[in-house]
Amino acid sequence: MDPASLLLLLLLMFASTINAQFPVTHCGSTGNFAANSTYQTTLTTLLSSISTTNSLSLSYGFFNASAAISGASQTLYVFGLCRGDLTAVSCRTCLNVLASDIRRLCPLQKEAFLYTDNCVIRYSDTSFLGVVATEPSYVVRTSYEVSSPDTYDAVLRKLLNALWAEAAGGGSLRKYASGNESAGPDMIYALVQCTPDLTKQQCSDCLMIGVQTIRDCCAKYTGGRFMVPSCLILYETNYQFFDPVSQPLPPPPSPPPGMLGLVQS
Ligand SMILES: *[C@@H]1O[C@H](CO)[C@@H](O)[C@H](O)[C@H]1NC(C)=O
Ligand SMILES: *[C@@H]1O[C@H](CO)[C@@H](O)[C@H](O)[C@H]1NC(C)=O
Ligand SMILES: *[C@@H]1O[C@H](CO)[C@@H](O)[C@H](O)[C@H]1NC(C)=O
Repeated sequence: MDPASLLLLLLLMFASTINAQFPVTHCGSTGNFAANSTYQTTLTTLLSSISTTNSLSLSYGFFNASAAISGASQTLYVFGLCRGDLTAVSCRTCLNVLASDIRRLCPLQKEAFLYTDNCVIRYSDTSFLGVVATEPSYVVRTSYEVSSPDTYDAVLRKLLNALWAEAAGGGSLRKYASGNESAGPDMIYALVQCTPDLTKQQCSDCLMIGVQTIRDCCAKYTGGRFMVPSCLILYETNYQFFDPVSQPLPPPPSPPPGMLGLVQS
C-alpha cells in the first residue's frame, strides 16, 4: 500500500483516553541514501543541532534547520514542531528523543516523519516549508461513545471552529489554540495547531480537513486525534490533557537595521 495514501484509524479498545503507541513512524518512500554518505553526515549534524540551537525558536515551539549536502546539489531540511503549551526545555527534550528515534527507525530513508502526542519531526531533501501537507495522516479515537451525541457534536463543532480561527490567525511564530467547552455533564478539551510557516489561509485549509475528519470519524466518541504534517487537532472529554496557560510568546528578534521600512503597520 502506498504509505502516502495510508489513512490509519486505530480503535483503542478499553481506553477511555488516547494512549497510542508512539512514535507514529512514516519512513519515506522516495529512496535511500548510502550509509556513511554526506547525506547521512549532514542529517546527523542537523539533528544534533536541536541540542545546541538557541531556545528562542524552541519557545515558539519550532525547530527549523537546513544545510547543503556537500558533493551533491541537494539541500536537506529538518523541521520540528512542539505542542504550543510546551516550554522550550520540554520542546527540546521531546525533539531530541524523536531525533534519535528517527535515525534508529528510518536509518537510510531520504525522508521521514515521526509524531508523538507532544512533538513532530520531519526531514526531507525537498523543501516543505510553506506547503500544506495532509498526508500521511494519523487519525485515532477512543472506543467510548458519549452519552448525548447530538449535543456533544454541536459543542465540539463550536469549540473546534473557534480554536481553528484563533490558531490560523496566530501569526508567523506560532499557530496554536486550546480551550474547553461544556457539553451537558461533560467538559470537552481541545487543542489545534498548524506549523508556523503556513499562511493564515493555508492553516485554515489544513484545519478544515481536520475538523471534517474529526466530525466523520470521532465526534460521537470521548476523544480523538487528527495529525498530519501541517496541522493537528486533539480532543478529550473530562481530561485536561494540555496546559491551559499557553507559553507566552517572547518578542521576535528585532529586524536588522534597514528592514524596519518593510514592516507593515
Ligand atoms: C560506515 O561507518 C562505520 C563506522 O565508521 C563502519 O563500521 C561501517 O562499516 C561503514 N559502512 C559502510 C557501508 O561503509
Ligand atoms: C473550562 O474549564 C475550566 C476548568 O477546567 C472552567 O473553570 C471553565 O469554566 C471552562 N470554560 C468553559 C468555556 O466551559
Ligand atoms: C526556516 O528556515 C528557512 C531557511 O533555512 C527560512 O527561510 C524560513 O523562514 C524559516 N522558517 C521559519 C518558520 O522560521
